[in-house]
Amino acid sequence: MAAADPIDAEKLSIVILAAGRGTRMCNDRPKVLHELAGKSLIAHVLGLASSLRPTLLVTVLGAGMEDVAAEVRKLAPDGRIVIQDPPHGTGHALAVAAPALPESGAVLVLYGDTPLLTRATLEKLLERRARDGAAVTVLGMRPPDPAGYGRLRADPDGRLHAIVEHKHCDAALLASDLCNAGVLALAADRLRHLLDELPRQPENGEYYLTDTVGLAVAKGWSCSAVEGSWIEGQGVNTQAQLAKVAGFFQARRRAELMEQGVIMEAPDTVMLSADTAIGAGAVIEPFVVFRPGVTVEPGAVIHAHSYLEQARVGAGAEIGPFARLRPGAEIGDRAKIGNFVEVKNTRLGAGAKASHLTYLGDCEVGAGANIGAGTVTCNYDGFMKHRTVIGEEAFVGSNTALVAPVVIGERVVVGAGSVLTAYVPADALALSRVPQRVLEGAGARLRTRLAHEKMRRKS
Ligand code: UD1
Ligand code: MG
Repeated sequence: MAAADPIDAEKLSIVILAAGRGTRMCNDRPKVLHELAGKSLIAHVLGLASSLRPTLLVTVLGAGMEDVAAEVRKLAPDGRIVIQDPPHGTGHALAVAAPALPESGAVLVLYGDTPLLTRATLEKLLERRARDGAAVTVLGMRPPDPAGYGRLRADPDGRLHAIVEHKHCDAALLASDLCNAGVLALAADRLRHLLDELPRQPENGEYYLTDTVGLAVAKGWSCSAVEGSWIEGQGVNTQAQLAKVAGFFQARRRAELMEQGVIMEAPDTVMLSADTAIGAGAVIEPFVVFRPGVTVEPGAVIHAHSYLEQARVGAGAEIGPFARLRPGAEIGDRAKIGNFVEVKNTRLGAGAKASHLTYLGDCEVGAGANIGAGTVTCNYDGFMKHRTVIGEEAFVGSNTALVAPVVIGERVVVGAGSVLTAYVPADALALSRVPQRVLEGAGARLRTRLAHEKMRRKS
């Protein structure tokens, strides 16, 4: 492609600004480590940045943000971290990163607390900058409530003259609803000239990144703006905004899954994680919660109020209602997990069933086995976890305790109410309960005796 290819990996550097402490989140957790759909805010932004395949990814953090630095190192091991100490505004943050940046190509600036942006929008921004040969190209948006956002002074064709912070806007500009989403792309060869000349704001001593536009225009360098969806520009500064952004994220992911053929009767009640994978034709009933790491194969049905985490559900399998799949649950094709069944670190073979009130932990269940109501794998002795193995086509009667480690062979039949502590070979019948006794007439005699006793106590 021509040299103007905006996402040419040779030429794109990305800087993520995340040095702000996020004091308005009102807790000890750094803002960008708050989770959105099972993933930290900074992980969302790093994932997006990486998807553009930049040659360089720089994250700007504040002093003492060690836990954030650890998350960034884990997710972007090839990226660089620079420390802005103390923070003096968004312009200063980019200036701190500038020595690490190459002098050619484009520099894209993202915020660590703006997780809803999409790759398509960023590509549009980068394409526009490359096409215009602009010193700065900014992402604009029209949020329903523009209070607090900087405003773009721009022509209808996207030519940009300045960004003016909300507090510095005159009435005419405030009436305009075209806001600065915060994302911008700069020409790397002009970035240093602009950053060197940023004025210090008299009221707070900060350097505003937004002032690069006015400076560039004054030098005769063109600047431009592209408009994106206001939802993508939503930032997180408070817990309430985090919840709102999470709502937008959920709506987007549900819509994507439904477009791919997933069936949801009440999508607004289904909670997804960023990595939830669901195959076409699967049915997700109301109030199902997907924590991270879940895959549901095509045609499976997840009944209402089930809760799944780090689990795989095979094609045509059925889960719930009110089932819990914990990490390591692997449910085979056409298998069935019914109500009030908890499954952890357990593989269920094809067509196996545990239909009611059961705990299967650290267990292997062969294909076609049937686990009766109230079966419990006693997998923990207070110190260590032990495995239970149940063979193919085995039938485990209701209310059975399987004291691990224990192996039940293929096609074994276990009598209801058994407590199994030792190996049962294939095709055996295992019974460990006390033999039944029947005392003719004794029930009637007992009732009479108890009725007399009650009368005696009353009188
Ligand atoms: C900024 C823009 C505003 C825009 C809005 C969109 C400026 C001056 N204003 O305002 O025009 O409408 O975003 O959300 O840029 N950060 C640092 N170091 C600092 C200061 C901030 O790394 O010294 C980081 C923050 O962690 C955050 C991002 O930069 O991720 C934005 O900072 P914030 O203080 O939220 O800027 P706004 O006042 O919202
Ligand atoms: Mg902000």
